[in-house]
Amino acid sequence: MNEKQRLESQQVQAQDSTDKKSGKDYSKYFEAVYMPPSLKEAKKRGKEEVAYHNDFGIPEELLGMGKGRKFYIRTYGCQMNEHDTEVLAGIFMQLGFEPTDSKETADVILLNTCAIRENAEDKVFGELGHLKPLKKERPDLLIGVCGCMSQEESVVNRILQKHHFVDMIFGTHNIHRLPQILNEAYLSKEMVVEVWSKEGDVIENLPRVRKGNIKGWVNIMYGCDKFCTYCIVPYTRGKERSRRPEEIIQEVRHLAAQGYQEITLLGQNVNAYGKDFPDMEYGLGHLMDELRKIDIPRIRFTTSHPRDFDDYLIEVLAKGGNLLDHIHLPVQSGSSEVLKLMARKYSREHYLELVRKIKEAMPNASLTTDIIVGFPNETEEQFEETLSLYREVEFDSAYTFIYSPREGTPAAKMEDNIPMEVKKERLQRLNSVVNEISAKKLKEYEGKIVEVLVEGESKNNPEVLAGYTSKSKLVNFRAPKSAIGKIVKVKVVKAKTWTLDGEMVEETVEVK
Ligand code: 5AD
Ligand code: SF4
Repeated sequence: MNEKQRLESQQVQAQDSTDKKSGKDYSKYFEAVYMPPSLKEAKKRGKEEVAYHNDFGIPEELLGMGKGRKFYIRTYGCQMNEHDTEVLAGIFMQLGFEPTDSKETADVILLNTCAIRENAEDKVFGELGHLKPLKKERPDLLIGVCGCMSQEESVVNRILQKHHFVDMIFGTHNIHRLPQILNEAYLSKEMVVEVWSKEGDVIENLPRVRKGNIKGWVNIMYGCDKFCTYCIVPYTRGKERSRRPEEIIQEVRHLAAQGYQEITLLGQNVNAYGKDFPDMEYGLGHLMDELRKIDIPRIRFTTSHPRDFDDYLIEVLAKGGNLLDHIHLPVQSGSSEVLKLMARKYSREHYLELVRKIKEAMPNASLTTDIIVGFPNETEEQFEETLSLYREVEFDSAYTFIYSPREGTPAAKMEDNIPMEVKKERLQRLNSVVNEISAKKLKEYEGKIVEVLVEGESKNNPEVLAGYTSKSKLVNFRAPKSAIGKIVKVKVVKAKTWTLDGEMVEETVEVK
């Protein structure tokens, strides 16, 4: 369901309710608005046009809803989810709610969930267990589950059956409906479920409360059409749909004008940016070429898919300037056979060729990656191909995972004869290669001068400041607090296991 279908279903509801004087009939509400999220439906997605909306607004009568009330959002998962939380917070604030850092003082608690692996889901169900007594103590407290898990039929059913104290479940396509969902939840005794299973639109003018004023995230596209066999994202986030370049450029200009130093362009598969435009040939390379002219020191993007990473993008990235030469390029496996089973649509050789092209155009580029071990029936030889690819590319670092079957995905149906102990052992062996190469790469920084965007005090010592280099290395160093929010030059004195220690050599680097 999308915005158009919702409006149509509302008309049906309105007609139905004219016969009744008794206010809202919630059984009808569920029939009309709740469509269980369905993976089968998601796979049938067509090429319908994406609907763009620029008319987000909060109905007059809901505007004061949050007066005297506080909200708390706990976010799980990726940066996309973090950014969705910024939008949810923006809507809460427009409704008059105040933010709080403590569940105990919150009037509304939202869990913005991640579905990528089973342990991500376990964490959420664990947290729901902790929230139950709080709800018992304070029945007025509203508890909501949103984000990727809400898009899964099995999760919605489990909450409907076993976690009756939850007041609201809404999906990734329903964020803009938060005011209405909260209103329903306040009026109703029933659990409010609003999960639109299909496609999704693009809604442009949503409010946001950004976390901090140094680094900002900008969505450039939503959804994913790649359907890698292990991955739940194409189902939880809907089909690929790109924001129009004018909107993105305007948002980045606005952030630059506000003094932001770094932006990260976000999408599940940013290299597919623009492929859905019916009216123009315009891709990520074109977008980056325009964004690089904006007066903002650093621009990153994530996440890339090797299949769609084209030569024009490499050409544009090689122009450098504010386009950073750190590329996160998930490989998932070093074996062409496993990649085929994963439906990644590239081979080991194709990936290595892409890396060669990137390094040729950007000799100083750093690459990081994601790797899954223990995909169904992965052999020892296939796993060793992953190790050898890792050594060949010499990634700066990697996120490594044991394969986790996700209900409804093709891989979840594959029979698997690899015992968990073997998978765990492979993960350990991979991690030791990752650590060895990361340490070697960090060591190379000793004695060098790097530019660090200072984010604030270090977590462990308020006397020390911390920030990231253009290649995403965390650097700790002593400097006056006035350096926070600026890009400064730091001499690296010592490489630690994961971070660098340095000394500031110059107050600020004027980038403008
Ligand atoms: N099991 C394990 N890891 C997964 N990822 C995605 N789906 C799964 C899964 N079912 C990993 C991939 C992806 C990263 C975000 O999470 O490596 O790039
Ligand atoms: Fe998790 Fe993927 Fe959803 Fe991000 S998009 S929150 S990684 S399931």
